[in-house]
Amino acid sequence: MAKMFWFFVAFTYHVFVCLANLQELDDYQKVRQLKNTLMEKYSNQLKPRKSLSDEVIVRVSPYIDLLLDFNENVGTFSVIARFKLMWDDHLIKWNVTENDIYQIHFPVEEVWLPKMVIKNTIEKRSILTFDDSLDQKTTYVSHFYDGYASVVAGGIVEAICHTSMFYFPFDSHVCTIQLYFDSHGVYIGDYTYGDQTKPALQGYTPHDGWDITNVTAVQESYDRATYNMQIKLERKPLFLFVSLVLPVFLVGFVNIFVFCLPIESGERISLAVTLFLTFVVIMTMVAENLPESSEVSIFILILLLKVITSVLTTVMAIVTISLYYRHNDFEKKSLLKWCICAQICRHQGKVKDEQTSQTPTPSTAFDNKEWKEIVQKIDRFCIVVLVLEFLCESVAVLILLRDRKLS
Ligand SMILES: *[C@@H]1O[C@H](CO)[C@@H](O)[C@H](O)[C@H]1NC(C)=O
Ligand SMILES: *[C@@H]1O[C@H](CO)[C@@H](O)[C@H](O)[C@H]1NC(C)=O
Repeated sequence: MAKMFWFFVAFTYHVFVCLANLQELDDYQKVRQLKNTLMEKYSNQLKPRKSLSDEVIVRVSPYIDLLLDFNENVGTFSVIARFKLMWDDHLIKWNVTENDIYQIHFPVEEVWLPKMVIKNTIEKRSILTFDDSLDQKTTYVSHFYDGYASVVAGGIVEAICHTSMFYFPFDSHVCTIQLYFDSHGVYIGDYTYGDQTKPALQGYTPHDGWDITNVTAVQESYDRATYNMQIKLERKPLFLFVSLVLPVFLVGFVNIFVFCLPIESGERISLAVTLFLTFVVIMTMVAENLPESSEVSIFILILLLKVITSVLTTVMAIVTISLYYRHNDFEKKSLLKWCICAQICRHQGKVKDEQTSQTPTPSTAFDNKEWKEIVQKIDRFCIVVLVLEFLCESVAVLILLRDRKLS
């Protein structure tokens, strides 16, 4: 009895498997047959419209997978981008109730495709770039029973991007990929435009130096076949902030203390000159890394301001020292040192006369102590000016940093 039962189970199982196989084979043959019937009266060189004067409206969905490179000096960027193109094919349609087939795929070579090209590219013009013949054979266009067709195409897109370094190193740029349909009577659907940030960045892998913060499709008013995809790139400024902006401000902060150094130490001028040279070196470094365009970055202007401040600090350091030693061992000082300061030079002729005649002049009314007091006042004034300048620059950088994440 048990034997009978197991035989029955095995038999039933076998019948089921055979039936399933038959069903699968049937589907396979059905799709093959459907494809053949559909292809009989089809040409992939003609627009899929019964009347060829009808237009084809193509909907575009962009996807950005990776930012490969953004070169703001040359003004180029490259991304790995895919575009899903969707349109209605009026010839590849069938009655789903007859065969229960909802979707079939055709290799891209066999059916009509809307040819989309990139206007501002520096490499491949078409987005339908299939790497080789095998890739071409194995890339499919999906067709649904109601005529809806879609294909995903794309790859590395290298395009021109005009950059503006005004806010460097807190800069952001809007790069545009200009696409248009190269076939007659093929246009882009209106519902394709607008903010695409979320869907476009679904599979995005973050870049170390730049963030893509916004992707928007903008309609060109004069041409329904053109599609402008604007990608907003924001620099991650943490690296440059730590390695460039912070040091500049710290060195700038030290500049204030030039006038706190006691004159007797004799280090004032060397400190001022060192700071001046530091700023010149940093400025050269930064200028090398920026494009040589007519637009000057705010940061370069701040550096220029720092260099000018350093020059004035050096001059003021010399003036204060000169005034400080005005009547101290005057004869022992070398004439060269005095020559540096114009104000002192003016007195030189007079002083030389004094040396020979030894007669008192009105200027001797000031004795050394009074000169020292004047120097003290000048020092205080310089410190106040430098502190104010430092605060102004800090506020400027904070304004630049406003609503920006550092990394
Ligand atoms: C599809 O096929 C079914 C069954 O053969 C038929 O009843 C129906 O009218 C067809 N539909 C169309 C749109 O031709
Ligand atoms: C992207 O930019 C567009 C236009 O400037 C704006 O309408 C949209 O809100 C922005 N999207 C995001 C996520 O910031």
